[in-house]
Amino acid sequence: MNLKILILPGDGIGAEVTSAAVDVLRAVAKKFGHTLELSEGLIGGVAIHKTGTPLPQDTLDKALAADATLMGAVGLPEFDNAPPGKRPEKGLLGIRAALDVFANLRPVRTYPELIDSSPLKNHIVDGTDMIIVRELTAGLYYGQPRGIENDRAFNTMSYTRAEIERVTHTAFKLARNRRKLVTSVDKSNVLEVSQFWRKVVIEVAAQYPDVKLEHILVDNAAMQMVLRPTQFDVMLTENTFGDILSDIGGILAGSIGMLPSASLGEKKGLYEPVHGSAPDIAGQNKANPLGAIGSMAAMLEYTFDLVNEANAVNAAIGKVLASGRVTADLKPKGTPATTDQVGRAVSEAL
Ligand code: IPM
Ligand code: MG
Repeated sequence: MNLKILILPGDGIGAEVTSAAVDVLRAVAKKFGHTLELSEGLIGGVAIHKTGTPLPQDTLDKALAADATLMGAVGLPEFDNAPPGKRPEKGLLGIRAALDVFANLRPVRTYPELIDSSPLKNHIVDGTDMIIVRELTAGLYYGQPRGIENDRAFNTMSYTRAEIERVTHTAFKLARNRRKLVTSVDKSNVLEVSQFWRKVVIEVAAQYPDVKLEHILVDNAAMQMVLRPTQFDVMLTENTFGDILSDIGGILAGSIGMLPSASLGEKKGLYEPVHGSAPDIAGQNKANPLGAIGSMAAMLEYTFDLVNEANAVNAAIGKVLASGRVTADLKPKGTPATTDQVGRAVSEAL
């Protein structure tokens, strides 16, 4: 198969982790006999520095031409006080919207080898295997009107029926192949958007009688995730809640550097580790590349339907974890491995 992939390293540790993921991708292509057609583009702060905009047209064109895009991270401290349109994050929001990738899948599982890396007690995190389905192209992130006036600032949380329905279908289809439980997260005791969200989710759920639906308020969901994470299978939620709750997933998985994600739409796939650009450790060959490598595995599975290849990468990640050669964030017993070394170890384990 010919895999046409755009690589967007972005800011901070994005370059290091995507480069490790591309090395693993090359190893997969070699082992399974696929050809790679890779291109690279600019996004985020580095794109602002080089072109004046966080999402140059060239990047959009390349993303639309590719089968899938692997993104590293966006965000640089020097833009902290920049106006909304000149922020690195705007590039990421722009490409998510342009590719119409409305369903962001964020699997969170505890590998037995990493159980001591989590600050939570072992018996709490042991056996965690959930997937957060975060709506990605609507809600507060995109709602209009928005703005800052003299003595007031405002954002709009808005969802249409169609926006809720399509991501709900994604969640239920996933649950069918898992433990058949969807937990929808909202704030329906206060927000109209959440009341509507809950109503539409219940309607869609009727088409999936084999899957159980539960509802939970977002504040309680945050608590339950650290209290008894094993109760969750598929967690369905809107954009902002999903952003917040998925960082808790990092605590369950041992490190946010472990978490992969897949953003899916009808046509395109955008794959991005959940972690940010971590400017404090950028350029030091310290960052954990497993979130990016796992995102690449998700790309093989969801965009290219190469399930054996994806399984092989995930098994190789497991072997590397078992070997203990991991980056500093996972608190290894000996000297921490570098980003490169972890990438090479995954390729070798393949
Ligand atoms: C994430 C990130 C992004 C988001 C930022 C970088 C815009 O936090 O993917 O979770 O909020 O969606
Ligand atoms: Mg986030």
